Amino acid sequence: MFFENTKNNIVALQNKSQKGKINNMKFKNKTVIITGAGQGIGAEIAKIFASRGANVAINDINRQTANKTVEEIVASGGIAKFFPADVTNEQEINNMIKNIIETFGSLDILVNNAGIMATSKTDELSVENWDRTLAINLKGTFICCKAVLAEMKEKKSGKIINISSLAGESGGITVAVDYSASKAGVLALTKKLALEVAGFNINVNAIAPGTTQTPMIEAMSEEQRKTLSAKIPLQRFGLPKDIAYAACFLASEEASFITGATLDVNGGLLMR
Ligand SMILES: NC(=O)c1ccc[n+]([C@@H]2O[C@H](COP(=O)([O-])OP(=O)(O)OC[C@H]3O[C@@H](n4cnc5c(N)ncnc54)[C@H](O)[C@@H]3O)[C@@H](O)[C@H]2O)c1
Repeated sequence: MFFENTKNNIVALQNKSQKGKINNMKFKNKTVIITGAGQGIGAEIAKIFASRGANVAINDINRQTANKTVEEIVASGGIAKFFPADVTNEQEINNMIKNIIETFGSLDILVNNAGIMATSKTDELSVENWDRTLAINLKGTFICCKAVLAEMKEKKSGKIINISSLAGESGGITVAVDYSASKAGVLALTKKLALEVAGFNINVNAIAPGTTQTPMIEAMSEEQRKTLSAKIPLQRFGLPKDIAYAACFLASEEASFITGATLDVNGGLLMR
């Protein structure tokens, strides 16, 4: 009797793990493009989508880091290819999207992740720097969204995930006004676009990360990092994988009734 139960338990566990495996390949035959995927959050999003079976298009302006992300994915058995383009350049982005569709046969998921951060005080912030931040963080998101719509509308299916920031909701702590304004713009764009394309079965959602441990954060001063970490209720910075899991959820069928939403991934920092 004891042995019979043990045997049944083992079979049940094996079935469970087999199901887990199948579930983990939930993006097989899906193609995802992630902008700014050479490092940080974007690289981690790329790796987790690849580990779940997706064809991953790595975009970045930094050839070296992008190739490194591709190599790491391929070395662990995933499918990835580098597609260079600057998100602020509409022509380059349109060509890139065409290229991705020709390479992989489709495009199912767009993650707008490329971004830059700024920390100047407003009276020291130049109009040139304001324009640059808005161009990469907000205009870049618009250009990439626009570029994938024809393909997604024709298929009557698609997922767009825009990486905003807690600063787009709260104003932020150490960041500059150009950054906060650009990320608030991303949240408004997400809602309006979600409404516009809902009839085509396209979901458009945003993720608002709190402080996340990436090269962007390493660029901050020791003092700025201390100020930030002391305020986080869950007592740690976010990890890139915390954001990557949220992106995978929003791109999955489990999230098919979610659109125009902002998913907060910030360890409770929004409540402070
Ligand atoms: N790290 C954080 O704490 C944090 C918090 C909230 C939101 N975010 C957002 O998450 C995203 C990723 O942040 P990260 O910390 O990984 O940053 P990161 O600086 O580590 O990586 C950003 C990547 O974007 C690329 N990039 C920059 N300009 C580009 C352009 N014009 N075209 C294509 N690629 C370009 C860079 O080369 C880089 O590889 C950004 O949108 C950022 O605003 C980050």
